[in-house]
This record gives sequence, structure tokens and C-alpha cells, in this order.
Amino acid sequence: MTKVGIDQINFYTSNLDIDMVDLAHARNEDPNKYLIGIGQNKQAVIPNTQDAVTLAANAADPLIDDDNRKRIDMVIFGTESGIDNSKSAAMYLQHLLNLKPETRAFEIKQACYGATAGLKMACDYVTLHPSKRVLVIGSDIARYGLHTPGEVTQGGGAIAMVISSDPKVIAFDQNSAFYSKDIMDFWRPLYRSEALVDGHYSNDVYINFFKHTWHQYQKMTGLKINDFKAFTFHLPYTKMGLKGLRAILPKASSIKQQSLLNEFEASRKYNRYVGNLYTGSLYLSLLSLIDHADDLEANDRIGLFSYGSGAQGEFYSGILQPQFKNANRASKIQNNLKHRKQISISQYEKIFNSNQKIKAADIKLDSSDDNAKFILKGIHDQKRVYGTK
Ligand code: CAA
Repeated sequence: MTKVGIDQINFYTSNLDIDMVDLAHARNEDPNKYLIGIGQNKQAVIPNTQDAVTLAANAADPLIDDDNRKRIDMVIFGTESGIDNSKSAAMYLQHLLNLKPETRAFEIKQACYGATAGLKMACDYVTLHPSKRVLVIGSDIARYGLHTPGEVTQGGGAIAMVISSDPKVIAFDQNSAFYSKDIMDFWRPLYRSEALVDGHYSNDVYINFFKHTWHQYQKMTGLKINDFKAFTFHLPYTKMGLKGLRAILPKASSIKQQSLLNEFEASRKYNRYVGNLYTGSLYLSLLSLIDHADDLEANDRIGLFSYGSGAQGEFYSGILQPQFKNANRASKIQNNLKHRKQISISQYEKIFNSNQKIKAADIKLDSSDDNAKFILKGIHDQKRVYGTK
């Protein structure tokens, strides 16, 4: 059986953030509600010179070497922050990354589940065509609105993954347990740029879908909690994953419980400082685990729970490969996070509201504060104009 999984992975977010203590003060909340109750320390602020396409291009660009340029012939773009109701974000990305034209490029939407749908499709494709590679993206900007309960769970950024038959990071088993149901826990009608959410209900559905798919997966595979070194979760806010983990912990010994909780802490470090990436959150958490846990070894089994409101859940797992660590990538990501500019809550509010401006037919955007390689320069003649710095 061909081994298939993530060969390379990278993450990008903007160079601006806000501190959750500042946000708590501005919203008359106890900072510990945000830091402990929600489990977030900082939140990425995405300027209007970045969108789902540029975030993805900035995440994927370092992965596109000559070999990948030759072998990638499919780009699957998971997002719920689409920039066009018709043309897919994958087309713009294929152009910005200068990928070969003999490529299938398209976008997938199912809330935060889109990147997992893309990854699963990519794995099936590479299993059938082992010499090919697929670029899978999860790129989003999480927007709930100023002064809403969801505000503390905003964020944004992109994950880029190359799927191959010689995966360096993690090889996935073919078994997967999935479950879907038409419900209204979180949605964003076409006329809105902020999501609508039934927050507490969405938490309950998330946990129910996790428990359901986890039980289904155990029945299907015979695997038990002790067979897993760590569990990673879609993290809309990091406490959500902790609630998921706590739902299954009683089945483990107390030593195993502590070990799984320690791995969970490693898996939420990046997410604590970035916030929700929607489609990319689960994979940012996987990256966080790999970059922060000091006791992981090749052949360890990692569980992954993906959740997209509306709602789709999926539990699956994979085995870490001998070269799963990449110190160079980790230090670049950590450096970028450390050197972001912290802005005030009023500056963030201004940026948040300026998003409305880019609905104009013609606009030039000021990108002087944006240090990204790929930027949105403006809109001309109803068309988005992208460029490099
Ligand atoms: N110190 C420590 N903890 C405190 C505290 C304090 N001073 N004050 C409150 N807390 C705790 C509360 O006890 C609570 O903990 P538990 O959840 O463990 O009970 C936690 O902080 C949050 O408090 P509230 O429930 O009172 O917070 P809230 O009513 O303001 O809403 C929320 C929280 C529902 C998550 C809201 O932020 C929200 O709607 N977020 C967006 C929706 C979301 O993320 N849903 C997740 C599932 S859906 C999904 O996963 C898809 C997706 O990406 C959107």
C-alpha cells in the first residue's frame, strides 16, 4: 500500500496582532476569561492588503521548489473567506505561485472543514497517482464583529501543505470516520462579511460530533486511546480542543491522561497567539504539536479531529515520519510571530472597519506597513489586483 500524507507544511499570518488583555479591558471583561476561559493570548489582525489569496500565497511560496513546481498538478483551496462567488481563489494562487498550467485548481467550501476535505481528496488522488503531488490550502480570516461574544475568537492566516507518496511529516491511514448533519450553529449569508453564530450551541455540536466520530473510528479500526501519542483538534479557540480532549480522557490511565494533556499544551501554542484560522486551525495545531512537543518520535500515532460548522466532523489519524521535525521552518514561524507589531484596540477597530472600503469598484490600497511578499494592491475595473513587494 502506498504511503501518503503531508510531505511539507507551512504557515503564514500577518505582521499585526492585538493582546487579549487589551481587548478584555476594552470590552469590560475579566482578562482571565479570555486567557483561561477561552484560552487565547493574542489575535492576528489581518490588514486589508491581505486576503485569503495572499495569505495562501505567502504560506505556500516557500514550499514551491523546482521539484514541486514539476510535480504539483492539483491545487485545492479550502476557504470560507472566498473573494469571489464564481472564480476560485485557487486560480489566483496558481498564477501568483507560477505553477504549471497543466493543473487542476479549485476551491472547496464547508466552513472550517474545507482544508480537510481537500487533504482527503488529495490523499486519494496521490494513492492512485504516486508520482504526483497536490498543494492543499486552508486560508481564512475569522470575523465575528466588534463587541460580539465571538470577537475574542477571531484571527486569520493560512496553512499550505504538499501531499505526496513519500511524506516527510505524517502518513495517514486510509480509515476515517465522518459525520454530517444540516444544522445552524455558525453561518455567513452572502451579503455579510461577518459570521453569525449560535455560540454555545456550536460548542455542544462540536463535542457531539467529536464523540460520535471518535467512537465510530474506534469501532472501525480497533484502536484505543492508548494507541495515540497525541490528539489534535480544530481550534476555533484553544479551550474548545481541551473540552474535546476532556470528553475522552476518562478512558485513559492517569499517567496517560497527563501525557495527553501535556501534548495538548504543545498543540495549542501557535493557536493561542494567532486565533482562529477556520480551515487552517487544525493543521496549525498539528504544526504547533510538532514544533513544541519534545517527546514525539517517528512512528507515534497522532489523532486529528476536523470540524466545520453547518456541520461536518471527521476523525482520522496518521503516523509521524522520521523527518517530521524541521527546525528551520519552526524558527522562521516563531520569529515571524515574535516580531509582529502589537497594535492598540482602536487601531484594530479602524482596520476591521476599513475592510468595507474594498467593496468599491476602484481603490488603491496603502501597503507601506505590510511586509508580506504577496499583497492585494487594490481593485481596478472590478478586478482584484495582486502583486509582490
Ligand atoms: N476566569 C476564567 N474563566 C472564565 C472567567 C474568568 N474570569 N470568566 C469566564 N470564564 C470561562 C467560562 O466559565 C467559560 O468556560 P467553559 O466554556 O469551560 O464553561 C468560558 O470562560 C467562556 O465563557 P462564556 O461561555 O460565558 O463566554 P461567552 O458566552 O462570551 O461565549 C463562546 C464563548 C460561545 C465560545 C463565544 O466566544 C463564541 O460564540 N465564539 C464563536 C463560536 C465558536 O468558536 N464556536 C466553537 C465551535 S464551532 C467551530 O468550531 C467552527 C468555527 O471555527 C467557528
